[in-house]
Amino acid sequence: MALLNFSQPLISDETIAAMADTMRTGWIASGPRVLEFEQALSDTFGGRPTRTLTSATGAMEVALLACDIGLGDEVITSTQSFFSTMNMIVKVGARPVFVDCDLISRAIDLNQVEAAITSRTKAIVPTHFPGALGDMDALYALAQRHGLRVIEDAALVQGSEWKGRPIGSFGDIATFSFHPNKNMTTIEGGAVVVQDEATARRIEVLRFHGIERLEDGTRDVVVASGKYNMSDVSAAIGLAQLRQLPAFLAQRRQLADRYFEKFPQIEGALLPPRGVAGQSWNMFCVLLPFASLGMTRQAFRAALRERGIATGLSYEPSHLSTLGRSLGYREQQFPNAERIGEQTVTIPLHCGMTIEDVDRVCDAIGEVIGSKKH
Ligand SMILES: Cc1ncc(COP(=O)(O)O)c(C=O)c1O
Repeated sequence: MALLNFSQPLISDETIAAMADTMRTGWIASGPRVLEFEQALSDTFGGRPTRTLTSATGAMEVALLACDIGLGDEVITSTQSFFSTMNMIVKVGARPVFVDCDLISRAIDLNQVEAAITSRTKAIVPTHFPGALGDMDALYALAQRHGLRVIEDAALVQGSEWKGRPIGSFGDIATFSFHPNKNMTTIEGGAVVVQDEATARRIEVLRFHGIERLEDGTRDVVVASGKYNMSDVSAAIGLAQLRQLPAFLAQRRQLADRYFEKFPQIEGALLPPRGVAGQSWNMFCVLLPFASLGMTRQAFRAALRERGIATGLSYEPSHLSTLGRSLGYREQQFPNAERIGEQTVTIPLHCGMTIEDVDRVCDAIGEVIGSKKH
């Protein structure tokens, strides 16, 4: 039996043809396809200035730099995120100040954010999760009260909405990922959506060596920067994938709905938020009470793998990484994120799957857990 991946992209013939056509044009690095893709993305974000990069990680780095965040600054962020959030804050020279998240929605805890604000705080970096967003109105009201920037890590939620408005179409800055595990892909890739053209131009400089073009045709560098520009081949893939995004999102929602219907009854198990309108479903993460089930997570994952089902882990809390600990963080500071870190399992959810695949995963989970009970 073929292994059911926990995540994988769906690449159509149209996508492959678009990629091949671009390869034949003779222009494969950043060029006209990138401009076209950025315009098409911007249209989905209410016309806001949008720039592509080679990853969401790079997008987060340049977004922090564009907010003038650096040495001595503090950035408040949820310890429940992918490591890239912490890493980029540290990389630009700032200090990540961790707070906890909600156990079910995984949204950043705004009470803890407020309590963590100091005179050094420059920004809040919340990470959004599939199934539900945090209270975006309260987040922006808080940021405004304290004069803070907000950089939303929206890597997982392209297509999610807040009160009918797509994430990225309002607010301060949002970053997106087009890694193959995300809602659509460019192979590797990301985007940053900003409020104004001046910031977008700054992002263009920061994503390409810090180079500024002078009127006499020569070039200058004022601030050292890296190289994160997307290729036209990736942009061509992105244009084709973006056309399919509504269908991808609908299929993901159907698969998630089926999980809610069929997931076995397990005492103490926690599923993601159910039935929140306008949400996208990049991953389906469940929390399982392994200690009371008398089974380790490793054994559970191995048993599913034996049944041809791969699983993932999203995410280990950043504050308990060696880097987080070197900043002074320890166990028992953020109980929700730590519980998620210990109990989370990402079960398969992607557009290569059918409803029958979901049923197979649910049956296998029931069997693995049931076999332990006797
Ligand atoms: C929440 C979150 N933020 C950022 C990233 C980084 O995305 P990329 O691989 O495009 O750099 C990921 C990737 O998994 C993610 O899950």
